[in-house]
Amino acid sequence: MELKNKVIAITGAKGGIGETLVSLLEKEKTELILINKKFEKENKRHKYFECDLANRKEILNLTKKLKENFTSIDLLINIAGIGVYKSIEEATIAEWDESFSVNVTAPFILTKELLPLLQKSSDSLVVNIGSGAGVIPMKNRSLYCSTKFAMRGMTLSLAEEFKDRNPKFCLITLGSTLTPFGIGKALTLEEKVKAHQKGAAYFTTEWVANKLIEIIKDKNRKTEIVLYPGDYGFGTWKKP
Ligand SMILES: NC(=O)c1ccc[n+]([C@@H]2O[C@H](COP(=O)([O-])OP(=O)(O)OC[C@H]3O[C@@H](n4cnc5c(N)ncnc54)[C@H](OP(=O)(O)O)[C@@H]3O)[C@@H](O)[C@H]2O)c1
Repeated sequence: MELKNKVIAITGAKGGIGETLVSLLEKEKTELILINKKFEKENKRHKYFECDLANRKEILNLTKKLKENFTSIDLLINIAGIGVYKSIEEATIAEWDESFSVNVTAPFILTKELLPLLQKSSDSLVVNIGSGAGVIPMKNRSLYCSTKFAMRGMTLSLAEEFKDRNPKFCLITLGSTLTPFGIGKALTLEEKVKAHQKGAAYFTTEWVANKLIEIIKDKNRKTEIVLYPGDYGFGTWKKP
């Protein structure tokens, strides 16, 4: 997909990966619809929409506004996510609900409600940021893994459903990246940077954002793209 003049909606636009991607897309002459829970600074170059993606009413309010303000959307990139890294004893049911709301329900509702706009474009695409945690079971991450397994199932199923029509779907099964992502037993960004300096495998957000742009532009893009910074040692699981 050529990016010039494309209308692109991005959730998680203020997060580690999202913000870096936005800074690269700014150079591609695109029209950016930036979605985040809060924005401290806004400029006139982009359209900003504050939305708590854990809240269904707010999502429906957002999609209503987008339908009123835009005639078509070429690209929807679902980046927003939360990672609750806790044992089942430590995690709360509220954290389970919030994890599913932000990581699975929000991308589903956004895709469903924005379909009419995505179908006005002759070449549209939905990119969902999945995770190695959507493929590999991990202790103390049952909440997060459950949501990313669900996102993987949803995205790959929709890719089948839309094989012969727009929009197309793409799942990025992503490995560890240097951002503050994750709460509970997750490392802080500073701890990740230190671990990286000692040899632990991490992507930088710049590497991931550049790769995302390369993937979006690729005419022969696969439905699932696996990006791991090192050898995760997955036993019998094979990359698609
Ligand atoms: N970092 C990694 O190692 C890694 C690896 C694999 C996959 N991923 C995936 O990559 C995506 C982005 O993560 P990141 O690393 O960039 O993490 P991040 O820096 O923590 O960014 C997360 C983004 O999601 C937004 N978000 C969270 N809850 C929200 C809500 N209720 N409503 C609206 N927005 C919300 C955040 O906005 P606020 O700051 O305003 O809450 C932020 O913009 C996630 O889907 C994650 O699962 C990350």
